[in-house]
Amino acid sequence: MCTVVGYIGKSFCSAFIFEGLARLEYRGYDSAGFACLDPSNQKLFCSKASGQLSHLTERFKQNPIDGFSGIGHTRWSTHGDLSEKNAHPHSDCTKTISVVHNGIIENHHELKNQLLQEGHIFCSNTDSEVIPHLIESLIQVTARPECPSKLLSEVGCIEGCKGNELVNVVLQLVTMLQGAYAFVALLQDFPEMLIVVRKKSPLCVGMGNGEMFVASDSLAFAGKTDSVLFLPDESFAFVHKDGIELYDFLGNQLPVQSQTVALTYAASGKDGYEHFMLKEIYEQKAAIARTVESLQLLDPLLWDQLGLSCEKIQSVQRIHLLACGTSWHAARIAQFFFEFIVKIPVSVHLASEFRYMPFFPQNDTVYLFISQSGETADALEALRLINALALPTVTLTNVAMSSMVRESGGFLLTHAGPEIAVASTKAFTTQLAALYWLAHRIALEKKVIKKSAMVCVEENILLAAHILETSLLQYRDVIESSLAQKYASYDKAIFLGRNSSYPFAMEGALKLKEVAYVFAQCYPAGELKHGPLALIDDQVLVYVFSHQDPLLYQKLVSNAHEVKARGGLIIAFAYEGQDELCSLAEDYFIIASTVPPLLGPLAMSGLMQYFVYALAKERGCPIDKPRNLAKSVTVE
Ligand code: M6R
Repeated sequence: MCTVVGYIGKSFCSAFIFEGLARLEYRGYDSAGFACLDPSNQKLFCSKASGQLSHLTERFKQNPIDGFSGIGHTRWSTHGDLSEKNAHPHSDCTKTISVVHNGIIENHHELKNQLLQEGHIFCSNTDSEVIPHLIESLIQVTARPECPSKLLSEVGCIEGCKGNELVNVVLQLVTMLQGAYAFVALLQDFPEMLIVVRKKSPLCVGMGNGEMFVASDSLAFAGKTDSVLFLPDESFAFVHKDGIELYDFLGNQLPVQSQTVALTYAASGKDGYEHFMLKEIYEQKAAIARTVESLQLLDPLLWDQLGLSCEKIQSVQRIHLLACGTSWHAARIAQFFFEFIVKIPVSVHLASEFRYMPFFPQNDTVYLFISQSGETADALEALRLINALALPTVTLTNVAMSSMVRESGGFLLTHAGPEIAVASTKAFTTQLAALYWLAHRIALEKKVIKKSAMVCVEENILLAAHILETSLLQYRDVIESSLAQKYASYDKAIFLGRNSSYPFAMEGALKLKEVAYVFAQCYPAGELKHGPLALIDDQVLVYVFSHQDPLLYQKLVSNAHEVKARGGLIIAFAYEGQDELCSLAEDYFIIASTVPPLLGPLAMSGLMQYFVYALAKERGCPIDKPRNLAKSVTVE
């Protein structure tokens, strides 16, 4: 979730590095740093600042030392607090090796202890700092006879390292490091190259004309080159301005197989909105329409792109959905789509848990991964696990160039457009739209529904998107002018739903936690009486998300009575005609009942998201970049 970037070539590096970091700041914003080789003295220059990239930019303007090779970083903290001293780049004892790292070095504790015993001096509390010190030891940049290296005696030391011996240095280094990492090293004594190393965490090189761009995400160098080398997992490279030497972790030299990729970057502006989250809430209707249109166009080639034959689809007996966070909520809602429409069982897994559970491979099964970014480490690792068993995998994502698209058997795209706010809004609703459509498409292939039904499907999704927008427009003024202020001081919330409105309530609770910093718990409403009812008093806001099914609605009304009887304050999200629930609520929102019940969560999303947004704004929260979070979660 940190970003690493690097540049070597004919131009000064700072322009690309700062622009690349800015484009990828969604990955982390706890601190930022820059290092380059100063051409005036051939020494490493380094500048760091805590907080957002803009702090570093200001600092750099005061001392703008630039070079023809450099590295940069924005940090999402794993080890060590959010301070300048923990900002990357990190250096060795001699300050001649500079490293930026994304990932986690799991055995950093042991490595650091050994390095400390050998006399190395550490300046930060990060796991990453072991990397430059290990490189220092391995190449023995300085002769330090007072600290004979135990580490090196274990792996075999290289005296007076030359460029070509760096292969062995890196090979030894990667045998020592455990965990996930993508790092870029800039060495004062090897000014003609950057060393880039990748295990699990993403890393790519944009190959230009007499210049190379390194980044965690190719978006960083979109517009500069379309020729991209996505480093294979467990590989490393020496990146020179005119070429790349690539090796695997066994030391075999690999061919450099670059891909030509149509990379585009359009700087996303807020277009007059106060926050990206608000803009993205309003963009949902159009994003859903785009997604539906692209699915219609894809239809004739659907199974090819999913990497599944028609026979496979016809015989599929179970679908596994795997995801994290908001995408997992979309999966939980989609379970209802597949089970009610295709009428086959669905299992939904949190990717981070799935990997450590017993696994029972089955035939006639499809594994469908859902990830806005297509880079989430937990999901990617679960995908690799299933791929290793040669089972069918498909990824639904918003990012066509993502690792999960590259590594899945097939893929399906949402067309939400770039989602900048950390809190997912339009990515979530476009996922729901695509999954609802896909459930019908599979049902059609399995002859569970008729062809004529597909037209209604698309119309219904667009109707739900329309209701999402109209309900938002209907209530936004009252939310902004009175409700946000009325409820902003409540620090505890309980979210309730039943059936498909339960996972939707979970999504509401997650939004409230991450954006408004309100402690929120979600329960299936029927579980209230089994314990959580003890929490209800007039200090707790209870959000009730209704369902159109008359029986489920009646049960929800009973649960609302239980809350009301204990002095709880209810905010109801109901459908037209659900008067009893509304009468129990302090405040309520009503959604058109013309939306098909399975699409209720999609239609309600805009209101729920806007209500949370307005509370967060009233509470003075940094809405687009909540504390401690990042948009793309590339550590496990
Ligand atoms: O990119 P992904 O959909 O795989 O991301 C998964 C979660 O990290 C993400 O949905 C997260 O929960 C959002 N910030 C929630 O708004």
